Amino acid sequence: PIPVIIDCDTGVDDALALLFAVRHPGIDLRAVTCVAGNTDVDGVVRNTLTVLEIAGAADVPVARGAARPLIEPARSAQHVHGSDGMGDLGLPAPTRRPADVDAVTLLRREILASPRPVTLVPTAPLTNIALLLRTHPEVTRNIERIVFMGGAVATGNATPVAEFNVWHDPEAAAVLLTAGVPITMYGLDVFERVVVPGEQVRRLRGSAEPGARLAGALLSHRPAGPGTVASADPARDADPAGGIGDAGAVCAVVDPAGITTRLLPVEVSLAPGPARGQTVVDRRARPGEAEIHEGTREQALVDVALDVDVDRFVRLYLDTVAG
Ligand code: BDR
Ligand code: CA
Repeated sequence: PIPVIIDCDTGVDDALALLFAVRHPGIDLRAVTCVAGNTDVDGVVRNTLTVLEIAGAADVPVARGAARPLIEPARSAQHVHGSDGMGDLGLPAPTRRPADVDAVTLLRREILASPRPVTLVPTAPLTNIALLLRTHPEVTRNIERIVFMGGAVATGNATPVAEFNVWHDPEAAAVLLTAGVPITMYGLDVFERVVVPGEQVRRLRGSAEPGARLAGALLSHRPAGPGTVASADPARDADPAGGIGDAGAVCAVVDPAGITTRLLPVEVSLAPGPARGQTVVDRRARPGEAEIHEGTREQALVDVALDVDVDRFVRLYLDTVAG
């Protein structure tokens, strides 16, 4: 199996990603690290521990990481993920505590201890990863690839052009992009497309297996609009179809052929203003006036996911989590 470490902000769809990673036989989930994002970092730790317990993976080490972005203030996404960051499903509190080391220390330890190079899967703002790369750059020698959920080629969600994870901590995302290891960007362009049809969600909800049942409940979660807090919505039962979100990035680790990628220059817009947090992806066939007049700038090359085989990932997700 592929050694994998997930860095997350659990998070409704981060939970879907954890449930998949625990169940997939091709993944050896070596650790999970937590960062502020969808909710505060202590909430993320609690949610992550609970999900792993329900999934029967209470032995996977979990560590608490950054409580806020490098420069920006912390800004929760409770309007999307519920007041507890997990869809307000009333899940039990975890019975164990996180590791007594911080996320950066655990990441370093697990990456360097792995007998095979690790695939790192951040599904959250990239604060922990930036701190890791700056504090312990030697870890890159045992990282196979970083497959991160974040960014967008086309439309954003946090702003018209910026995706939440990058927008929340743009400086950290810029550090990630120049890590000097192979990177796959699983951005909004593919993220939003992988939706499990209502009938299958209903089947998951009726499953006898606790992890599958939780996946069904999470997929049924309906986010409310910004400025409000998400809550259970009886109308949701009529059509409980739901996107697998962050879990798609983990699907792309075990089944890279399910996405179509192109190696493209990507840069994070850091300037204040309407483009802050945008991932500027250069899809031009040839250099333009800027390069002709100013020379070519050094930019990170990233495997950007431009398309996804939706049916294939839905099947992969269901076969793994429901099976
Ligand atoms: C990303 O932000 C979070 O709300 C999701 O879990 C995902 O990681 C989407 O922009
Ligand atoms: Ca997330």
